[in-house]
Amino acid sequence: MWGTNLRILGVVLGTVAVYTLLANAIPQVESEVPEELSFTGDVSPEQLIEAGEELFNGAGGCTACHGLGTRAPNLLTAQGSAGPIGARCAQRVEGEDCKTYLHRSLVEPGAYVVEGFQPIMPDASRTMSGAQIWSLVAFLESQGGEVTVTAADLQAADAGGEAGAAAGAAAGPSATTDPAELIRELQCVACHKLGAEGQEVGPPFDGIGSRLSAEEIRAAILDPAASIAPGYEQFAGVMPPNFGSRLTAAQLEAIVAFLAARK
Ligand code: HEC
Ligand code: HEC
Repeated sequence: MWGTNLRILGVVLGTVAVYTLLANAIPQVESEVPEELSFTGDVSPEQLIEAGEELFNGAGGCTACHGLGTRAPNLLTAQGSAGPIGARCAQRVEGEDCKTYLHRSLVEPGAYVVEGFQPIMPDASRTMSGAQIWSLVAFLESQGGEVTVTAADLQAADAGGEAGAAAGAAAGPSATTDPAELIRELQCVACHKLGAEGQEVGPPFDGIGSRLSAEEIRAAILDPAASIAPGYEQFAGVMPPNFGSRLTAAQLEAIVAFLAARK
């Protein structure tokens, strides 16, 4: 069907975990990080869809919100009077075809907010490479629609994506140890309120120091799944578990001290 669209550079879905261990990285906490996809030969739509499906149900963290049907729209089944996401995607924004809409939903989630929902969806380009994002688009298109992701999309993502992928997939932030800056660079504010800034997916940072000790804050950052903040059970699994491998010890301690002092 859509096979010929996708005679692409090719794919090795073998995958490599893309951690560059910084010289003084924190001891590793076992965590699930999206597997990197590298395209080096022919890739079939089936392979793309499979990779996207795996991300969707696993390390991509999508089901933490989209699996519930309350906090976020159903994607794999009908939503209200509209069909599954691959069938309704082209009707969302005038002038945007399905593929454009889906890609935008992932990398610029605030651009169009589905009626009846809050703008809490995190920007996928912060944690995923261009190829991973396109594989998700292919998977979502396959849910009731036609897969139209093309070689050009993937090539463009590869070319422009080197920086994006490096910045995205499990890379460290800059070398700064300024905690407020780190919190912005790492997009903690995509989910935590800090003063007037940020979204409230997780608990606000203001006053966090009066609720949690420095040790508890450190533990919550290194292994978010170990203890879930009361009242946020529905969002268990949403916080990325890989900050331990992205921060140097000095950066982690700067953030911990900064948060512990917000009483
Ligand atoms: C923190 C919760 C959360 C997470 C995690 C999340 N989303 Fe969403 N998503 C939402 C909400 C809420 C909406 C509806 C509001 C909006 O449009 O932004 C949405 C909207 C969408 C839409 C548009 C749906 C439509 O009917 O038009 C798509 C597509 C989507 N998400 C895909 C994903 C994928 C793929 C992932 C995983 C990489 C993901 N989301 C992760 C909360 C989330
Ligand atoms: C994609 C959303 C998301 C991002 C990004 C995120 N968090 Fe979270 N965080 C959450 C959610 C949801 C919770 C509550 C559920 C839980 O405890 O796992 C949480 C919990 C926490 C807690 C425990 C709070 C409490 O009151 O128990 C701390 C501390 C924390 N996050 C710090 C951070 C820091 C620091 C960053 C950036 C380096 C960050 N988070 C990035 C979603 C996120």
